[in-house]
Amino acid sequence: MAGATEKERRSQIVELARQYAKEFHPLHDFDREEPFNEGDRISYAGRVYDDDEIANLIEAALEFWLTPGRFARDFERSLARAIGVNSAFYCSSGSAANLLAVSALTSPLLGDHRLLKGDEVITVAAGFPTTVFPIVQNGAIPVFVDISLPTYNVDVSLLENAVSHRTKAIALAHTLGNPFDVGAVKAFCKKYNLWLIEDNCDAFGSEYTLDGKTAMSGSFGDISTLSFYPPHHITTGEGGAVFANDPLLAKILLSFRDWGRDCVCPSGKDNVCGDRFNAAANTYGQLPAGFDHKYTYSHIGYNFQATDLGAAIGLAQLKKLAANAAARRENFARIFAALKPLEDCGAIILPQATPRSNPSWFGFPITIRENWGRSRLEVVRFLEDRGVQTRLLFAGNIVRQPAFVTSGGQKLVDFRVAGDLANSDRVMNDTFWIGVYPRIGKRRCEYMTGLIAQALNQ
Ligand SMILES: Cc1ncc(COP(=O)(O)O)c(C=O)c1O
Repeated sequence: MAGATEKERRSQIVELARQYAKEFHPLHDFDREEPFNEGDRISYAGRVYDDDEIANLIEAALEFWLTPGRFARDFERSLARAIGVNSAFYCSSGSAANLLAVSALTSPLLGDHRLLKGDEVITVAAGFPTTVFPIVQNGAIPVFVDISLPTYNVDVSLLENAVSHRTKAIALAHTLGNPFDVGAVKAFCKKYNLWLIEDNCDAFGSEYTLDGKTAMSGSFGDISTLSFYPPHHITTGEGGAVFANDPLLAKILLSFRDWGRDCVCPSGKDNVCGDRFNAAANTYGQLPAGFDHKYTYSHIGYNFQATDLGAAIGLAQLKKLAANAAARRENFARIFAALKPLEDCGAIILPQATPRSNPSWFGFPITIRENWGRSRLEVVRFLEDRGVQTRLLFAGNIVRQPAFVTSGGQKLVDFRVAGDLANSDRVMNDTFWIGVYPRIGKRRCEYMTGLIAQALNQ
């Protein structure tokens, strides 16, 4: 190897890393079904990758840029293209992305339309906590409406009842990859001039057809978000992204992600904008003439940037998105067919895709019927004891969580409930979900569904 150029040495190392991945990480890609023996652990989700991710990661490691660099810029462009919007910003998690999304709506640059303390944001109670928490963190008031079964998404007929003169936005997730009724929600937002935050964290690759045009979920909201935590459709380890079409919202999101600063020059690059020292006095607040634009802060922001190493992995993952979504749909269809008799005999409720949607499922939710005689706890214990990993539909009814209410009934968070949350309570008591991720495959689906039938009928 002596005398090799840097480029040659780099490709030798990357090639060696590829060989290592093929030899020692062989059971994480699409092509090989892990050998399966009854009783082996079946995870609800996991990373799906091959030597491409390892090669990209090693290349980024050798460059050692670490903070967002060329891989992050490329990843952001590719993400925006994949969703079909103008701007994407890679950040440290899906929760950070949701916090950026709500925080962006508080920007003074949005004038009268901005979200103020005490304004209301309509959302659902049965979902992931950090869809809702950013509303509270920004001093706004979550207004909860119930969900519908068996889509597990917002019951759009309840929206009218939730709106008030303080309503400024709606923040909703596509539950477990199943798009909410985008048509009805968008029409509602238009009628009341509301912002729409689309939490797409569990739905990368899902589609919805609006006005005859099919588009990716994450392209319908004013702002949308993704999570790249390992169970998701693509992973960068920790990581997330926030998306916007509108250039002003994009500028605000970038500012909130990068310390609140006004300047858009990328990390480690000075004066790309050419305006670093050019501001006249009082252009920005009461700062003096020529004050360094790099240190000019137009928002009370965060630092939610993520590393070039994660972005390098994400670039390889993005190429596998379509295959990942297809495998998830296939597993979903297998589980659905196998469990149909249990629905027909009245034991369970099976999930249903929202009309005009094509979900890229994150998981397979199952609700046990109240009078069937088997509790969720019994069923989940039966499955877990036999190696099948199960999950709850996240927070259940979030207003019953200790972050919201004490056991004595004292309310800890300012929120409003429009109507009742009967289905959210039902989900809290009777729903669980199992995995559909690509490595589950036919045999594991058969094994899991066989066990579910036993658990419900024993
Ligand atoms: C709907 C939803 N939103 C947000 C998040 C938060 O993502 P992260 O774990 O990357 O913070 C999750 C996590 O899985 C989620 O399911």
